[in-house]
Parts: sequence; C-alpha cells; structure tokens
Amino acid sequence: MLLRWLLFVAQTLVLVAKALVGSLLPPKRRDLRADHVLITGGGRGIGRALAREFARRGARKIILWGRTEKCLKEAAEEIQAMGTECHYFICDVGNREEVYRQAKAVREKVGDITILVNNAAVVHGKSLMDSDDDALLKSQHINTLGQFWTTKAFLPRMLELQNGHIVCLNSILALSAIPGAIDYCTSKASSFAFMESLTLGLLDCPGVNATTVLPFHTSTEMFQGMRIRFPNLFPPLKPETVAQRTVEAVRQNQAFLLLPWTMHILVILKSILPQAALEEIHKFSGSYTCMNTFKGRS
Ligand SMILES: NC(=O)c1ccc[n+]([C@@H]2O[C@H](COP(=O)([O-])OP(=O)(O)OC[C@H]3O[C@@H](n4cnc5c(N)ncnc54)[C@H](OP(=O)(O)O)[C@@H]3O)[C@@H](O)[C@H]2O)c1
Repeated sequence: MLLRWLLFVAQTLVLVAKALVGSLLPPKRRDLRADHVLITGGGRGIGRALAREFARRGARKIILWGRTEKCLKEAAEEIQAMGTECHYFICDVGNREEVYRQAKAVREKVGDITILVNNAAVVHGKSLMDSDDDALLKSQHINTLGQFWTTKAFLPRMLELQNGHIVCLNSILALSAIPGAIDYCTSKASSFAFMESLTLGLLDCPGVNATTVLPFHTSTEMFQGMRIRFPNLFPPLKPETVAQRTVEAVRQNQAFLLLPWTMHILVILKSILPQAALEEIHKFSGSYTCMNTFKGRS
C-alpha cells in the first residue's frame, strides 16, 4: 500500500514537472483546417469575435446559432467574406426540442460538428427578490441547461469519430460571485461544475477534449452600465482578446483558462482569506456595488 502511495506521489510530481517543462517548449497545436465549428450566440459579442477568429485560423466551416436573425445573417456574411463557409440557424438553446431539431438540421445540411462552442448566455442583473421567477428560470435554462442539450446533441458523434472539442465560455463570476446578478452567477457556477465533470469524464475518450474559459468583464453589450471602481487597474477585456485566447486554448488543448491571468490571484485569495477580509476586498474594489448601475442590453 505504501508503495502505491509513493508511486502516486511520484507520478503526480512527474506530471507537474512535465507541464512546467512543456510550458517552456513550443506547444503542439490542433490544425483547424478540417474542423466544423458551431458557436451558440455567434451573432454578436464574444461569439461573433470567436467566429472571426476561428475563420482567421483556418476552420473549414462555421455554424452560428442564436435567436436574432439580423445579427446572425450579418455575422455569417462577414465570415463568408473572409472566405470561410458559414451557415446560421435560429435556435434558442434553452429549448431542448429546438436544440435537438436544429442539431439534426445542421448534420443534414453541413455535416458533423467537431468543435462545439457553448457561448450563448443572458444576464438579468437583479437581486433575488427583485427578479421575476420566469427570468430566474430563463437564465438557468439558457446559461446552464442549454449546454446539456447542445453537448448531448453533438458529443456522441465526436466520440464515434474520436475527434471533437467542447468549449464553454464561462465567467470568472463562476468562481467569485457578486451581488446583483444572482441568477447569472448561479448559472455560471453550475456550468463550471458541468464542464469540470465533463472534462474528467472525457479522460478515457481519445481525441475528444474540453476547454473552459473564465473571462473577467468584457466590453460587449452584456454588462452595459456595470461600473468597476478602478477601471484603469482592471480594464474590461476586448471580445477579440477573449476570442484569440480561447481559440489558442482549444488549439493547445488547454482545459481551463482564466482571463486575464491575474484572476488566479483572486482564486488563491478566496481559498485562504477569512470571509471578513474578502468582504472588505469586495467593498474596496467596488465589486460589491458594481451592478447598481447595470443597464444590460438596451
Ligand atoms: N461580457 C462580459 O463581461 C462577459 C464576461 C465573462 C464571460 N462572458 C460570457 O461570454 C459569453 C458571451 O457573452 P457576450 O458578452 O458576448 O454577450 P452578448 O453580447 O450579450 O451575446 C450573447 C449571445 O448569446 C446569444 N443568446 C442569448 N440567449 C440565447 C438563447 N436562448 N439561444 C441562443 N442564443 C442566445 C445572443 O444572441 P441572440 O440574442 O440573438 O439570441 C448573443 O449572440 C457568455 O456566455 C457570457 O456569459 C461575458
């Protein structure tokens, strides 16, 4: 038994050392030229930037899902103008039957999906007591359960082909919640657990992997009006930066990516500081009140 323990510790240390050495060497990258990439919420914001970045990196076909046809059509035309085949489908990811129906339509029209990007999400920006019950349910249906349905729809074929990647655009709020967006933070935390479980579950599935991206505030319409106390110290990310880093993480098969890297400090502080000290940090940094000025998508 002692020998088994020693072996386990030695193996873990070897893997840590391998990762450290690996980070110094030029990484092996996935060639995207044969990939069919489906992006939920691909008509605008980070989703649209992701479509551009996957196209720029040579993906073979891009498929956009969303609810607003005007944005999807414009985005698809932009991608086609870049020389990449692009299709769009109207699909509410919170509606299970619609997801399965449109997944079938995608397979028939475009073929198998090899990279699925679960990006679609909504935020209502209210406290629990101020939130309408239907709005609370809607954010869980779209932000969390939507990923169950899209993943169930496309993962089986990826496993058969032994070729696939599931990507989740999560949020740093999954690991460090703020008041005033209780449904959003809850949905992102459960979506994070979904991705952690899925990532581990794919360990024995050759050729199929997962990437979870946890960005800080990003300058799209989603969190319009939200005010951070030290914007010069913590400027919002650009959607293009999030897209570039996400595509790079997929190509390098990185399981988890926090953006920017300084968010690791937040996670470490959260696990070691007493609650009273954390509350003081929330108050001082303004994250405690940042949603008071939230307007969201107008
Ligand atoms: N912006 C930030 O500060 C920030 C920070 C960290 C993480 N994120 C995450 O990054 C992702 C993209 O956010 P974003 O900033 O680009 O937001 P956004 O500009 O509001 O875009 C959200 C996208 O999701 C789509 N969508 C919403 N509900 C949908 C549904 N039921 N079915 C299908 N599509 C739906 C929207 O399209 P339609 O309205 O046409 O359906 C839109 O394309 C989200 O998962 C978000 O949580 C954002």
